[in-house]
Amino acid sequence: MKYFLMHKNITVALLDIDEDIGFIQKVDELYEEKHLPYGVKVKNGISDRVALNDWWVDRSIPASRSGIVRALEVLNLYSTRMLLLRCYGLSLSDQYWIKPINGNLEWSKINFFENGFSEDVGDVLLGKGEKKGHFDFSSPDNTSDGCLKKRWKIVDGKRCLFKAGSNPFMQQPFNEVIASKIAARLDIPHVDYNIIWDDGVPYSVCEDFIDVNTELVSAWRIMQMTKKDNSTSIYKHYIDCCEALGLKDIVKAVDRMIVLDYIIANEDRHQNNFGLIRNAVTLEWIAAAPIFDSGSSLGYDKIASQIITGVGLECKPFKKKHEDQIKLVSSFEWIDFKALDGVEEDIISVLDQAGEYIDEIRKSAIVRSVLHRINNLQKLASTEIKFSDTPDGDVERDISETYDK
Ligand SMILES: Nc1ncnc2c1ncn2[C@@H]1O[C@H](COP(=O)(O)OP(=O)(O)O)[C@@H](O)[C@H]1O
Ligand SMILES: [Mg+2]
Repeated sequence: MKYFLMHKNITVALLDIDEDIGFIQKVDELYEEKHLPYGVKVKNGISDRVALNDWWVDRSIPASRSGIVRALEVLNLYSTRMLLLRCYGLSLSDQYWIKPINGNLEWSKINFFENGFSEDVGDVLLGKGEKKGHFDFSSPDNTSDGCLKKRWKIVDGKRCLFKAGSNPFMQQPFNEVIASKIAARLDIPHVDYNIIWDDGVPYSVCEDFIDVNTELVSAWRIMQMTKKDNSTSIYKHYIDCCEALGLKDIVKAVDRMIVLDYIIANEDRHQNNFGLIRNAVTLEWIAAAPIFDSGSSLGYDKIASQIITGVGLECKPFKKKHEDQIKLVSSFEWIDFKALDGVEEDIISVLDQAGEYIDEIRKSAIVRSVLHRINNLQKLASTEIKFSDTPDGDVERDISETYDK
């Protein structure tokens, strides 16, 4: 069936989508090249269909989402791509959608930033929904990324993302809150998270940092536009790509992200867990996105002794080891170590909310490891370390953590 690919009110392209399998079969026409999803290139006047399909499929809930097999069974669908079609691909993180050519749908009437949406799909994704005759599929949950169970809800007029943790410690929601508190102490632009309990399950809650005129473009997409040669590190490639878009302060923003990730021992800052914000109407690049999704950190899946030793700690997105990645930081001068005094009280006060999921031994291991890492950072900041940036030790494949336990 024919659809227009839309960017808010702009008609970007004419697509032929096979509704049985949910793939773009053909790009019939390209009307507004500039408004194509960033990272999709144009060949001989028509957009690269494979790249556009990659982008489209990436919009669907990943097959590795916790609980997705059961959710699809309840919804009676065979693939998460089917969900995409049923909400016109609308999202709360950007402004793209598809419009059937025969209909008269209007952006202003259907976008989720200004209009309500159904809670049916969100309920099912969280394991609450039951099989029933009719589901209302108009929901931004159909286009949400990431492997943890999650849903969008409107709370006091604000679009909020609720995210669960993974067994056995359910630590990610608490980590999100701790990371946002540490970021606040260091004045690092970040998304604020809080904890909410529902049916005995803890969730992190944060507000949408995108509004009706802006959109998040992931680092992965930013890096698709130019080919990286083997002698260039992933870090340099990202900085070059962002600077070419006019983002002069990108080094500062990445410095802050690397430092925060070092302190919290983040293991999953893959290339879709950070990026840039642009204005979807003017296409002006605004800034690095505030730090979000810092939950896979603080030894979230490890036992207490491993948290202390840091054994097997992963690192992304630039280097495989935090000790190498921290060397990419261009300046530590902005770090106010005094502002971190008492951080252990923040950590404990958050972890105390976890009840039976996190015991005292685990709490003190987490505090010990954070203090130890801050200490290391302080040493690094006071020594003359050389900024090191070669492709050695670079992350080889950009893949996100899965939690289907
Ligand atoms: N506060 C937010 N505002 C807008 N989009 C968001 C927000 N938080 C997350 N997203 C989008 O949702 C995706 C999934 O959320 P994320 O927190 O990364 O979940 P997960 O931990 O499962 O990876 C992100 O990659 C991003 O595109
Ligand atoms: Mg994520």
